[in-house]
Amino acid sequence: MEPRQLPVAGERTSETLSRFRDESGPVVRIELPGAVEAWMVTSYDTVNEVLTGDGTVYGKNPAAFTALHDGTIAPDWPLRQLIEGDHLLTKDGEDHRRLRGLVNKAFTPARVAAMEPRIQQLTDDLLDRLARAGEEVDLVREFGEPLPIAVICELLGVPEDERYRIREWTNVLLSHVAEPAEAAAAGGGLLAYLSEFIGRKRGDGDGDDLTTGLIRVQEEEGDRISHEEMVGLLWVVLIAGHETTVHLIANTVIALCADPAQLERVRAHGSWEQLVEEALRCRNSVLTVMFRYPREDVRVAGTAIRAGEPIAVALSAAGTDPARYGGDAAAFDASREPDAHLGFGRGPHFCLGAPLARLELRIALSSLFARFPELRLAVPPDKIAYTSSLITEGPLELPVLLGP
Ligand code: HEM
Repeated sequence: MEPRQLPVAGERTSETLSRFRDESGPVVRIELPGAVEAWMVTSYDTVNEVLTGDGTVYGKNPAAFTALHDGTIAPDWPLRQLIEGDHLLTKDGEDHRRLRGLVNKAFTPARVAAMEPRIQQLTDDLLDRLARAGEEVDLVREFGEPLPIAVICELLGVPEDERYRIREWTNVLLSHVAEPAEAAAAGGGLLAYLSEFIGRKRGDGDGDDLTTGLIRVQEEEGDRISHEEMVGLLWVVLIAGHETTVHLIANTVIALCADPAQLERVRAHGSWEQLVEEALRCRNSVLTVMFRYPREDVRVAGTAIRAGEPIAVALSAAGTDPARYGGDAAAFDASREPDAHLGFGRGPHFCLGAPLARLELRIALSSLFARFPELRLAVPPDKIAYTSSLITEGPLELPVLLGP
């Protein structure tokens, strides 16, 4: 099989991955930078199988595929730090359970529900600012970005004037077309910042944020988490906790503005919760998750994959798979009956922040359209430029008109 090439700058990565599925099937050979070959799974069934182990020749076996890698995948790749880094997303087994267990409690549905008033207040403040900003605004910069950044940074105790740098580092870190040296500098910058930040928090002592909580655990039970592990954990929570939500807010606004009948339907008798699930299914901001590696030689949908070979897992293509969702799978339909989608992943790495993301998205979208009922795109949808990343996708800018 001739390997498929990764999308280049300017292409919509989500569309390319769906094309891989339609043209090359549920298991596709791809070429990473440096002429390194890998696999990509693109259908609902194969993505589900690789994330959960359900359906392999071994039967249901959650440990059939691991996120833990044992070598270099593509040396020249800007995404290398994220994909080959040592952090929650790339851990496995007991190590993964121990680290996840340390932050799990902060994200339970009950803890998250208690955050609703604060998230609503942050949203309302941003909408007040938007109302004063003028007729045409960039919704990414003025709303989609600042809200999730404020939420996750408040949770971790990151001071306000240090937040924007984190966004800038993340943008470079997730681009698959950035210069590798630039990506390394951004990733290194964020890690160095977090190491210094933890040291500073240690001196502060008595905050009630997640970082202070982890420092206490470390002081009381040093063997449960090392300094490096804490840096890696905060790194993932911080990146995963905003990047995804920033883009999903914008992707959903585009879907609603491109087809105003959808918005009418939600206003008349639909639910914002259901709308969010539809966006997670077919306009997801997460395109592929971390590579997975079979522990032993396997066959996935009939294709033989050797133990240890990297597999990219295309969630976005799975979400628009006609074999699962029918002929109109790619269409955004706010009245579609929700089905178990893979938008938050599945299996041991299932999104830790899913309850928080759902809450933020519901509040952000319902409040935005309640405050600005006439909101519409200031440019045609096909003129919107998107991020170039194999991992996440959303518009770089979103010019909208707020008033009638
Ligand atoms: C993991 C999606 C928001 C924290 C994941 C994964 C997906 C995902 C697909 C699985 C990755 C994999 O299997 O390799 C999303 C989407 C979001 C969102 C679509 C919003 C639209 C959030 C938020 C947080 C968060 C708000 C806040 C803390 C995490 C963490 C992991 C994760 C820490 C790693 C879990 C692990 O490795 O055990 N997310 N996420 N996410 N997400 Fe989210």
